[in-house]
Amino acid sequence: MTLPPLFWKGVSLSRKPTFQICGKLAFLIYPLYAPGVKAIWRKMIDSFGREIDYLRISVTDRCNLRCVYCMPAHGIIHKQPSDILSFEQIYSIVKAAVGLGIRKVRITGGEPLVRKDLPALIAELKTINGLKEICLTTNGIYLSEYALAIKEAGLDRINISLDSLNKEKFRKITQGGNLEMVLSGIDRALAAGLAPLKINNVLLKDFNTDEIADFANLTKARPLHVRFIEYMPTGLHGFCADVLGLGHGSYDDIFLSAQEAKNICRSVGELEPVEQGTADTAEVFKIRGFLGSVGFISPISRPFCASCNKLRLTSEGRLRNCLHSSKTIDLKKAFANNNSQDELAALIQEAISLKPEFHNLPGHHKDEKNNPLVPIGLEAENFSMCQIGG
Ligand code: GTP
Ligand code: 5AD
Ligand code: SF4
Repeated sequence: MTLPPLFWKGVSLSRKPTFQICGKLAFLIYPLYAPGVKAIWRKMIDSFGREIDYLRISVTDRCNLRCVYCMPAHGIIHKQPSDILSFEQIYSIVKAAVGLGIRKVRITGGEPLVRKDLPALIAELKTINGLKEICLTTNGIYLSEYALAIKEAGLDRINISLDSLNKEKFRKITQGGNLEMVLSGIDRALAAGLAPLKINNVLLKDFNTDEIADFANLTKARPLHVRFIEYMPTGLHGFCADVLGLGHGSYDDIFLSAQEAKNICRSVGELEPVEQGTADTAEVFKIRGFLGSVGFISPISRPFCASCNKLRLTSEGRLRNCLHSSKTIDLKKAFANNNSQDELAALIQEAISLKPEFHNLPGHHKDEKNNPLVPIGLEAENFSMCQIGG
C-alpha cells in the first residue's frame, strides 16, 4: 500500500522501519497525524483494532508496604532518584500521549503517595487539554493526609488496595501495615468527594475467602465499589504461601477464581448486573438494595485482553505495552534532544504497534496439559509488580 503523503509530513515516525513496512498499521494510525485533525479527536488504534486511550503511570518504585504477592522477601533494588522521571518529563510524556489519543491516566507506584509533592503533578496534568480523567491507585496508608489535597489538585477518582478487614491479617499480608490508617483514609477520601471509590481485593484462597461476604457488605450503606481480583502469578506464590501459611506453596494452592467469589456474594444478596464500558476489566453487579457495587476481575479465568485499552509507563521512563510483557521502550532518550514531543509521539506509537494480542499467563492455554505457569515478566529485568503498579 502506498501511504498518503500527509502521513509522512513532518512526522519523525516515517523514519521508523516498523512504520515503513507495516502498511495496514500505517493506515490505521493515519488519522492521528492528519494535519487539521484536532488532538482531542485523535485516536490510537493498535494492530488488533483496539483503541488505546488509557495510560497507567508509575511515579515511584517505592512503597511503604510490602504485600507478600507483590514485593519479594529481600525487597527490590530501588532505582536511583536520578533515574526516576521528573514531573516535567511525566508532563511531556502525557502531553504527547494525549495528543495521540490517551484520554485517561492512572497514577500508580509502588505507592504513589510516597512521591513528594504528588498533588503538584496532578495539578499540572489537569491542565492538559483533551485529558478526560486522572485517577490514582493507592494502598491508602497516607490517604488521610492527602485526600483533600489530591482532590483539590484535580484528581477525579481513586482505587484503594485492601485485602483484609482483619487487623492481624492485614498486618501479615502487608508485612507490617496498619489497617486503621487505610480505613480512615477511605473515610477521608469519601468526605473529600473522591467518587466513585473502588476497593481492590486480591483473592487468596484460604487467606481472605472467609472475608468475601464482609467485603460485599461494605457496599451496603456506603458508595463503595469492591472489586475481587484473581491473583496473577508473579513468581512469588511460594513466598506468599509461606508467610500466610497456605497450602504447599504452589500457585494452585493460592488461586481462587472470581467465579467462586461471585458465588459467595450471591449468598449476601441478589446480584443485579451493572452495565460497563467496553474496556472495563471488571464484571460489575449491585447487590439488590445496596448503595455500592461488587465487581469481579478475572485476568486468569476470563482474560480481557481482547478489549485492552492500556499502556504503562514505568517510573524510570519505559513504556510497557502489556502488563505481562517483558519488552519495554525507553522514552528517556527522547529528552536528549530538542525535538522531544515528536520523538515521544513516535516512541509511544511504536509501543502501540508492538502491543501483543494477549498475555502469556496460564488460562489462555487451559487445554494444554503441563503448561508451565509463566510468572509475570519471566524474562524481564528485575521484575516486580510494585515496579509496574499493577
Ligand atoms: P478503573 O479505571 O477504575 O477501572 O481501574 P483499573 O482496574 O484499570 O485499575 P486498578 O489499578 O484498580 O487495577 C485493578 C486490577 O486489575 C489490578 O489487579 C491490576 O493488576 C488488574 N489489571 C489492570 N490492568 C490489567 C491488564 O492490563 N492486564 C491484567 N491482566 N490485569 C490488569
Ligand atoms: N495479582 C492480582 N492483582 C495484583 N495487584 C498487585 N499484584 C497483583 C497480582 N499478582 C493489585 C494490587 C492493586 C492493583 C494495582 O494491583 O492489589 O490493587
Ligand atoms: Fe502492596 Fe501495592 Fe505496595 Fe505492592 S505496590 S507492596 S501491592 S501496596
